Amino acid sequence: MTADPDTPRWAALLAEWRRGSGTLQTRLTTALQEGVTTGHLRPGERLPAERTLAPLLGVSRSTVVAAYDDLAATGWVTRRVGSGTHVSPTAPRSSPVMTLRTPVTSGRHAEDTLDFTIAVPLITPAQQERMTAASQGAFQESVYHPHGLPELRAVLADSYTREGLPTRPEQVVVTSGAQQAISLIAGTLLRRGDHALLETPTYFGAIDVFRATGAELHGVPVGERGVNPDDFAHLVRAHGPRLAFLTPTFQNPTGTVLPARARERLAALIADAHLPTIEDDTLYDLGFADTPPPARLSTFAPGASVINVGSLSKLYWAGLRVGWMRLPATLAGPLGQAKTLADFGGSLPSQHIALNLLDDLPSLRQERREKVSAARDLLSGLLRIHLPEWTFRTSDGGQYLWIELPSPGASRFTHLAAPYGVRLFPGASMGVEPLPDRYLRLPFTLDPARLPEAVMRLRAAWDDFQARPGQEGLA
Ligand SMILES: Cc1ncc(COP(=O)(O)O)c(C=O)c1O
Repeated sequence: MTADPDTPRWAALLAEWRRGSGTLQTRLTTALQEGVTTGHLRPGERLPAERTLAPLLGVSRSTVVAAYDDLAATGWVTRRVGSGTHVSPTAPRSSPVMTLRTPVTSGRHAEDTLDFTIAVPLITPAQQERMTAASQGAFQESVYHPHGLPELRAVLADSYTREGLPTRPEQVVVTSGAQQAISLIAGTLLRRGDHALLETPTYFGAIDVFRATGAELHGVPVGERGVNPDDFAHLVRAHGPRLAFLTPTFQNPTGTVLPARARERLAALIADAHLPTIEDDTLYDLGFADTPPPARLSTFAPGASVINVGSLSKLYWAGLRVGWMRLPATLAGPLGQAKTLADFGGSLPSQHIALNLLDDLPSLRQERREKVSAARDLLSGLLRIHLPEWTFRTSDGGQYLWIELPSPGASRFTHLAAPYGVRLFPGASMGVEPLPDRYLRLPFTLDPARLPEAVMRLRAAWDDFQARPGQEGLA
């Protein structure tokens, strides 16, 4: 191991490994697990070969092999002959992010629980009927359309073209929600050890997908008006990223909107750096103001590798699982292929429903805006009355309030709120890098009739939280 430049690091990292209890193998396993949870060992990082680590630690090679096997069996590392042992992208980490983030679900917990962790529109009986009728068209179809129903791709291409982004149907690929689009893009363009830029905080589904590729993530801070192009430019120069993820319009979770001038500058930077960039438009249609949001970032640099990602999940219903990506010509081949390989195409009934819904996009947008803006006003009014010490800005769109608590401890608060029948994610879990633990993301998509009760539960949990100061109170 003397020739390995990493030897001092491993020696320091494992300096205390013998101090634990149990067999040598157990102690080594525990020490490596601690390295991962504390963040000293990063997802994707390669562990030393058994034959090099054994002499450094003064143990037999079989002890190291057994420890690695144990870690592999429990999901902490991945092992592949020829490429070695790497920290698994999904290994547990100590940040509140991973311990609190549960699989996306609704309706699995007690009926009475009010779930603020997901933000999806509720569906009315009339909407259900409309969807059932529209899905019938699927049964006259040939069954496989790997890149999406041709008519749907054409409608989506038309809608981009009308909004200033000339698009051919071949550039549109229909996906299973925006999430699959993000996942296919990250999986195709990122390799372990690559660098990637994301806003911080941001949509956690994107953070997890990017992290799972083994790429190293860097956060561009989101201020009151989105990201600062200078920060972005600095990170591009410093790290040479392979992919960026941006939500310029009604950002999840902060609701911020990037002004037109900043879009123009970012678009120029992206074009100069030849940096493939996802522009996530999932919330684009949820503006409440009379004036529409600025034009998409991609319209400022039509030749750049910006991939627009959209979805019907927030506009209509997430259960449809209909999303799409609009690909620049250079990426249409590889990403079209990625979608084909993933599933041979999305569900036809869902795509027929999407086609029917998009027939009248303006009224779809209008209906949704009216519902969401009324819910936002109700929730923000209730919070101002019952939790005046919580601060937040009301944004012009999106579906969340980004709450700042008067003191740290948002993660502990989310645990404490659970017995009051409220599910919450701490805002810090939406940071690419550690964020101050004083934010909460509250969506206003719950049934409005239940919002008063939800706020009263939050108030009761908050009183409880304040009566029991935690460690953070001492800081
Ligand atoms: C910004 C953003 N992108 C993507 C998604 C995923 O949406 P879909 O349901 O279409 O997969 C969400 C859902 O919360 C989101 O907020």
